[in-house]
Amino acid sequence: MYNPPLSMAVIGAGRMGSALALTLCRQEAYRLRFVVSRSQKSAEDLCQAIGQGTAASVRELMVAGVDLVWLTVPDRELSALASDLAARGPFVGSPLFVHTSGCFSIESLRSLRDAGQQVGALHPLQAIAGRDQLLRPGAFYAIENESDRIDVLQQVVRTLNGRSLRVPGAKKALYHAAAAVASNYLVVLAEASQAMFSACGLEAHVAADALGALVKGTWDNVARFGPVEALTGPVERGDLQVISEHLMAIGVQGDPSLLELYTTLGRRAAELAVRRGSITPEQAQALGRLLGGGRR
Ligand SMILES: NC(=O)c1ccc[n+]([C@@H]2O[C@H](COP(=O)([O-])OP(=O)(O)OC[C@H]3O[C@@H](n4cnc5c(N)ncnc54)[C@H](OP(=O)(O)O)[C@@H]3O)[C@@H](O)[C@H]2O)c1
Repeated sequence: MYNPPLSMAVIGAGRMGSALALTLCRQEAYRLRFVVSRSQKSAEDLCQAIGQGTAASVRELMVAGVDLVWLTVPDRELSALASDLAARGPFVGSPLFVHTSGCFSIESLRSLRDAGQQVGALHPLQAIAGRDQLLRPGAFYAIENESDRIDVLQQVVRTLNGRSLRVPGAKKALYHAAAAVASNYLVVLAEASQAMFSACGLEAHVAADALGALVKGTWDNVARFGPVEALTGPVERGDLQVISEHLMAIGVQGDPSLLELYTTLGRRAAELAVRRGSITPEQAQALGRLLGGGRR
């Protein structure tokens, strides 16, 4: 039996809108019809990159009718966009409006739902840093429990060779904070580490390679043993002298936020080391005094 492709529109031709359209339209089951964006050029560039769809206005999208509308504008724009779309309705057909925010629930699309439209939220749990990137096979996607047409969202995830997670709307801010710590702040740690390697005289490409190898090895340990057992280093060994040397060396750099980063994460590491049993609570208190704040 012939199943016609699902017709899609993208509103917001940025990094995620592009990644979704570029990846889904590699499959015959999805077809890009319209791209609406703040700038006409972004919309045209995306259509050209895919070889499908036209840069359009909301009005064109409304009267032509599509199955799926991706709302991939910045999170802060979602509510206003939904209100604007709801006020312009009704839409021909019965499109499913889906946003990709990890933090906001589909409450941000309440005005569309109140206007009788179907809404959903699907958060790709991956970092897309450029408009030419594809979504990665094997990645996870959080489908909000309160979404309409969860069957359609699950089918999208299957097409993307991804794996689904289910998250209640009320927990999305915490879910997204977890993702931000693991992904965005890992980038921050990489920058901080590279800055210190550079200050030792390492060339940038050598520092980047060394960092990559170090982080990969550490991640292998986390995956194999879990974070508590994977912890190594001077905090895990309760080595006050080494930590004092670190604090002095970082202090010389004259970068207060680097020192703050080191001491804040060091205090959390001391808690992990106590859980692991490699240091005593008394040693953790001594570490806390050295690292400032917390256990005094
Ligand atoms: N990037 C990621 O790694 C990632 C990961 C998971 C989820 N997400 C989610 O994906 C969504 C989009 O994020 P992003 O990173 O793709 O942001 P982005 O790269 O900044 O793209 C958003 C684009 O939307 C367009 N836009 C802004 N306001 C608009 C409006 N009112 N109407 C129409 N178009 C508008 C702008 O395109 P032009 O000005 O170029 O036209 C802007 O570049 C967010 O909800 C975010 O949480 C992103």
